Amino acid sequence: MLHQPVSEGVSLTSDLVLDRASVSVGRTQIVKDISCHARAGELLAIIGPSGSGKTTLMRAMTGEMPYAGAIRLAGLEVSGLAPEFQAELRGVLPQASQISFPLNVSEVVGLGLIDRRRGRQERSRRIADALGRVGLAGFEGRTYQDLSGGEQQRVQLARVLCQVWDPLPADGPPRWLFLDEPVSSLDIKHQYQIMRLAAAYAARGGGVVAVMHDLNLTAAFADKVLVMRNGERLAFGTRDEVMQPELLSKAYDFPLEIIPHTGARPVIVPMEGE
Ligand SMILES: Nc1ncnc2c1ncn2[C@@H]1O[C@H](COP(=O)(O)OP(=O)(O)OP(=O)(O)O)[C@@H](O)[C@H]1O
Ligand SMILES: [Mg+2]
Repeated sequence: MLHQPVSEGVSLTSDLVLDRASVSVGRTQIVKDISCHARAGELLAIIGPSGSGKTTLMRAMTGEMPYAGAIRLAGLEVSGLAPEFQAELRGVLPQASQISFPLNVSEVVGLGLIDRRRGRQERSRRIADALGRVGLAGFEGRTYQDLSGGEQQRVQLARVLCQVWDPLPADGPPRWLFLDEPVSSLDIKHQYQIMRLAAAYAARGGGVVAVMHDLNLTAAFADKVLVMRNGERLAFGTRDEVMQPELLSKAYDFPLEIIPHTGARPVIVPMEGE
């Protein structure tokens, strides 16, 4: 059950709103004055070169880093949310997840089941269902450390799915998935499987924020795109507004062109000769 940690009269919305959000480490400002917004039901992709501040921004959005400016989720300032409410409201897939003690897959996925009132059978069913969704049916008894990098990444995603299973709970605001490079270790089939899963979560009413390096997957799945460079917002808008060759070439300091595709989505490639 979602416990509302706010006083009466404060309405919960389904939006994620950033208003001049900045993050500093020591005296260095890593993320500078980012404003953007997304609605539940949408997938917001954050793209930009390595070191541009994507992970840092996402960690501020998930309450893991202090920030200046405003970051509101469901109408509430993220920095003021109680940890238990955060855990009910959003699931986070970090860029790298290390587990240093031996656990089997079922135990790792079960970490996401924050509602301890569930019976053992229901927990097992939920874990099996989550593993099936990420293409790892039957992996429950495997040792997590023995899995490949891509398998571990999908186990972590199953854990996050267990945590925020229902994107539209009856008793609270829509839930959000925050995914930092969710498909970076995956082959093309599993990249599409996971991106479809994320898009389906949004289609069912949840919100999704995904840090992405693959521009073609971004063009295929994002509703909105935030482009970062040197900690700043280079662009923000709908996929079609942002996925433009000049803008992307500038973002990555690398010449890119977009080939119109016979399918619904363009294909982004390096310019010939580069
Ligand atoms: N705790 C920290 N202390 C000092 N510098 C940091 C810290 N965290 C991040 N940085 C620096 O801030 C910049 C942005 O890092 P961040 O991890 O947000 O980039 P990113 O866009 O996610 O990159 P990548 O695509 O490689 O994951 C980098 O130059 C990084 O070295
Ligand atoms: Mg990163």
